[in-house]
Amino acid sequence: MAEEAEAILEVGGLVKHYPLTQGVLFRKEVGSVRAVDGVDFTLRRGETLGIVGESGCGKSTVARMLVNLERPTAGAIRYKGEDITRLSGRALKAVRRNIQMVFQDPYTSLNPRMTVGDIIGEPYEIHPEAAPRGERRKRVRELLDVVGLNPEHINRYPHQFSGGQRQRIGIARGLALRPEVIVADEPVSALDVSVQSQVINLMDRLQSEFDLSYVFIAHDLSIVRHISDRVGVMYLGRIVEIGTDTEIYDHPTHPYTQALLSAVPVPDPEARAHRERIILTGDVPSPTNIPSGCRFRTRCWKARERCAQEVPTLAVPLHLGDPAGPAAHDSACHFAEAVSFGRSAPGQTVLPEPTP
Ligand SMILES: Nc1ncnc2c1ncn2[C@@H]1O[C@H](COP(=O)(O)OP(=O)(O)OP(=O)(O)O)[C@@H](O)[C@H]1O
Ligand code: SF4
Ligand SMILES: [Mg+2]
Repeated sequence: MAEEAEAILEVGGLVKHYPLTQGVLFRKEVGSVRAVDGVDFTLRRGETLGIVGESGCGKSTVARMLVNLERPTAGAIRYKGEDITRLSGRALKAVRRNIQMVFQDPYTSLNPRMTVGDIIGEPYEIHPEAAPRGERRKRVRELLDVVGLNPEHINRYPHQFSGGQRQRIGIARGLALRPEVIVADEPVSALDVSVQSQVINLMDRLQSEFDLSYVFIAHDLSIVRHISDRVGVMYLGRIVEIGTDTEIYDHPTHPYTQALLSAVPVPDPEARAHRERIILTGDVPSPTNIPSGCRFRTRCWKARERCAQEVPTLAVPLHLGDPAGPAAHDSACHFAEAVSFGRSAPGQTVLPEPTP
C-alpha cells in the first residue's frame, strides 16, 4: 500500500452527542451521551483502515456518520476534499453512492420477505441513474457471481442461505453502486471462524478488483490485523492510537493498546511464556460522564496527576526519540512508552484457508 495515495476520506474533529433527557411530559435535557467525542483520521485510496475498541466506544456511531445515516454534532467528513456533512439534496445523494456500508449481522440486516435479487438490486431503486431498469437483473446476477454465489439463486430468500452466504449478499448489495469506499461494521463478527476467513479473503480480493478503500470495524484484533494496512484504536469516543499494522501490533505506545494486545491469545507457547498479561481494573466509564484530562486515566496503571488535568493530544510523542522508528506514530498519552511486543505480538494467527 503506497503511503502517498490520495486521501479519499478525511475525518476531522468528528463528534456525536446524543441528548440525555428526563421526564415524560416535560422532557428536560439533563446531559449528553458523548458517543463520539473528537475523532480524526484519513483513509487513503486502496487502503484498509481498521478500527478496534471495546463495546460501546463509538465505532458504529462513526460508521453511521461516514455513510450519512446520522448527522454529526460537529466536525467534518471530507470526501475527496469536500465536506459531505454540509451537503444536502442532490449533491449529498451523489456522494452517498460512493460510500457504502456492509452491516454486522447478516441474519437481521437482510429483509426476509425480499428475494436476494431484490435485496441486491435495491440500491438501484434509490439511485436509478446507476443502472437502466432493463439491465438491473443482469447486473445483480453479475454481482452474485462476483461474491461467489450462484447467479441462478437470484429468486431465493435470505433464509435459504447460510450465514456466510448472507454476508456475501450484504457485500454484493454494498457493491451494487460501484462505490469507492466501503464501511464494514463488524462484517464477520457474527460468523464462525472458518467462514470469517472466507469472507475476509473475499473482501481482500474485491478490494484489488474494484480499487476499494475500506474502513473495517471490529473488536477482534487478530482479524483487524489480517486485513488492515493501518489501525486506529478507539476508547470512549476517541482514537487513542493510530498507525500502520506493524506500528500498532508490534510497537504500541499507548497503555490501552498495550493492555488490549496483551489479552489476545498467542498461538506460540514460547512467546506466550514471555508475555505479561495486563489486566485492566475498573469498568469503562459512562460516555455521559467522561473523566477529565485523559479519558483512560481511571483504568490506567501509569496515571499521574498530569493525566487528570491535561487532555493528551493524538500526535507523535516527541520524547520517544528516533522520529523514523516504529514507535513514532500518533498516540494520545502523556507518558507514551515504546514497548516491543515483537514475536509475542498477537494477530499472527493464520486464518484457515477457505474450503471450496
Ligand atoms: N441513538 C442513541 N442514543 C443514545 N445513545 C446512543 C445512541 N446510539 C449509540 N449510543 C451510545 O453511544 C455509545 C457508542 O455506541 P456505538 O454503538 O457506536 O458503540 P460500538 O463501539 O459500535 O459498540 P459495539 O462494539 O457494542 O457495537 C454507547 O454508549 C451507546 O449506548
Ligand atoms: S495520559 Fe496518563 S492516564 Fe492517559 S494513557 Fe497516558 S499515562 Fe495513562
Ligand atoms: Mg457497533
